[in-house]
Amino acid sequence: MVMEFYDVIKTRRSVRSYKPNAVPEEALSRVLDAARFAPSGSNRQPWKYLLVKSPELRKKIATLCGGQHWIAEAPIVVVACGSDIKYDRGGYMGEMSFLIDSAIGLTHLILAARAEGLGTCWIGLFDNESIKEILDIPTGWNVAAVTPLGYPKDPKWAQPGKRKEISEIVSVDQWS
Ligand SMILES: Cc1cc2nc3c(=O)[nH]c(=O)nc-3n(C[C@H](O)[C@H](O)[C@H](O)COP(=O)(O)O)c2cc1C
Repeated sequence: MVMEFYDVIKTRRSVRSYKPNAVPEEALSRVLDAARFAPSGSNRQPWKYLLVKSPELRKKIATLCGGQHWIAEAPIVVVACGSDIKYDRGGYMGEMSFLIDSAIGLTHLILAARAEGLGTCWIGLFDNESIKEILDIPTGWNVAAVTPLGYPKDPKWAQPGKRKEISEIVSVDQWS
């Protein structure tokens, strides 16, 4: 069953408790394909997704994410990496622009995961250097974010979150 686009957006939540059930290969490939089609500066596609399935490595990564041990419950931990190719054409982000590209790619992935009934949780707290070491991530690449990927334990997980009103976050013509 294909979910309505805005339902996907509104019911994606950060999931912090997972069933051990495997992610079906067909669902996983659709999710990864969604990440593949994300836009990026000059279409450089400077991303790579490490799918960590080994229980030992999942536990180590959870420890390296500030001890958020529940991350390892998910059957897959996605380590989203970005290549820090210099990208300075006058843009203000300069060499940090890989973070933007990687974030867009991972956003595609987590929304597609929601459409598949899978949970994710964007993890911004991690030890880049140590994760690079245990996963053999080469020089010139960095971890942009981590997310567990699996079926949420709570059957009622997909409820819209609390958000600011549109009037608080949008203004027209002038800042107000
Ligand atoms: C850049 C970023 C970093 C985050 N880091 C963490 C994290 O380390 N641990 C965690 O449990 N949640 C983390 N989150 C999830 C946020 O807490 C969550 O998205 C926010 O509270 C809104 O809730 P929702 O995702 O359920 O809608 C992060 C989210 C983002 C976008």
